[in-house]
Amino acid sequence: MVAKNRSILILAAGKGTRMKSSLPKPLHAVCGYPILAHILKTAQALNPAAVGIVIGHGAQQVKDTVLANLAAWGITVPVEFFVQTELTGSGSAVKAALPFLQKQEDVMILNGDTPLLQADTLQAMQSVFNESHAGALVLAVKVPNPDGYGRIVRDSQNNFEAIVEDTDADAATKKICEINSGMYVFNSKALCEALAQLKPQGSKHEFYLTDTLGFIKQAGLPAVVFTSEDYEQALGVNSRAQLAQAAQIMRTRINQYHMDNGVTLINPQDTYIDAGVQIGPDTLIASGCYLLGNTQIGSNCTLESSVYIVDSIIHDDVTLKQGTYIEKSEVAETCQLGPYAHLRPQSILKKGAKVGNFSEIKKAVIGEGSKVNHLSYIGDTQMGAGVNVGAGTITCNYDGKNKYQTIIEDHVFVGSNVNFVAPVTVHEYAKIGAGSTITKEVASQGLAIARSRQVVLEKKGVKKEHD
Ligand code: UD1
Ligand code: CA
Repeated sequence: MVAKNRSILILAAGKGTRMKSSLPKPLHAVCGYPILAHILKTAQALNPAAVGIVIGHGAQQVKDTVLANLAAWGITVPVEFFVQTELTGSGSAVKAALPFLQKQEDVMILNGDTPLLQADTLQAMQSVFNESHAGALVLAVKVPNPDGYGRIVRDSQNNFEAIVEDTDADAATKKICEINSGMYVFNSKALCEALAQLKPQGSKHEFYLTDTLGFIKQAGLPAVVFTSEDYEQALGVNSRAQLAQAAQIMRTRINQYHMDNGVTLINPQDTYIDAGVQIGPDTLIASGCYLLGNTQIGSNCTLESSVYIVDSIIHDDVTLKQGTYIEKSEVAETCQLGPYAHLRPQSILKKGAKVGNFSEIKKAVIGEGSKVNHLSYIGDTQMGAGVNVGAGTITCNYDGKNKYQTIIEDHVFVGSNVNFVAPVTVHEYAKIGAGSTITKEVASQGLAIARSRQVVLEKKGVKKEHD
């Protein structure tokens, strides 16, 4: 654990040019959470006194998003923001947070683009720093392809010599596969002194945070390299390709976690589960499913292929047939949906309800055991228990200006191809004849037929061909 007086600083001010995006890089999502949210969660796991975030590019948007979502991300540690006005490198970013550094003896600094980072690695890093009484410690990893990263150059005794940025490296240095992960622990005083000595480097004239380690070493304090085995944790997201790569690695971790907890994934490579999703044991998930946001799935459910669920609660023993799409809704035990059913926001299915082929439900309650099996639209509706809705039934809930409610009480039987022109109420045990357009209240146990009587006109005046 990081001692209570230590704090963690996250650098998230950079332009993220290589993302080619109008969205600031820290807000790009990996498995349902922004990159920055992942780092904040990991940082918080170390129990720091505070977390500082250096913002710059898209500062207001980053700050507003973080503040609006702290609770949703489960962040309770105090968060402070520091604005870097000139985006001239990671060294300048840290300078923007000098008051934060000066409050404490040591500081952990993390790049704001490494979503795969895990708390046990940071803890190990902190322990090595404490034991070695170093002025600076950098977390290094050995990668198969070091392109784009700063290389760790070691001296003849194999100790830290320098970090050389990819753009400034000669051919021999470029061959080094041990790279700077962008995670550090510094003695604050030594860091502040080193920051004062930084000079612009490279073609972009940036102030590199990485140069401070050399200055700290020159000042006589050890600069230590801590090399971690797990290089995936250090993956920095600089481009869309790296964003996809980070998401894939995180997805593999998430899927492994659910399989370890008793969930069957038919094809984990093609199953997309966000970081915040919960799933009960003995649930089976077929290929191509997306479970997103704050979704919860009960145990013993079956999700056939290509089921898409956002921010919804699915209770135990539910079957979701192929292509079912559920947004911000709740589905009780033993319900069956699909194939190709659509629950739009605020739909509630009570126990054992069925919503079948090509039916759409919106802001409606479908009561216990009720069935909407074929080609229907049920919106703004309160439906009781044991209702049977025939194929092609439509609630006409909108008059072009306002939305109105349809109330269908328990055990109503609705024939096929019925329109309910809302607001309208059908009382319990009523029956509605097929093809009816219902505009008026239907009494309990009543039979409503509202369609024109069939007329068969004889084919008068038409002569037969052979006449
Ligand atoms: C940086 C390191 C490199 C390391 C790599 C690991 C430097 C000089 N280089 O390179 O050695 O291997 O990370 O992923 O640090 N930032 C600011 N303000 C700025 C510039 C950057 O806050 O003016 C922040 C960014 O938002 C980002 C971090 O600093 O979170 C690193 O910046 P980035 O441009 O991604 O540096 P890299 O080229 O990846
Ligand atoms: Ca980076």
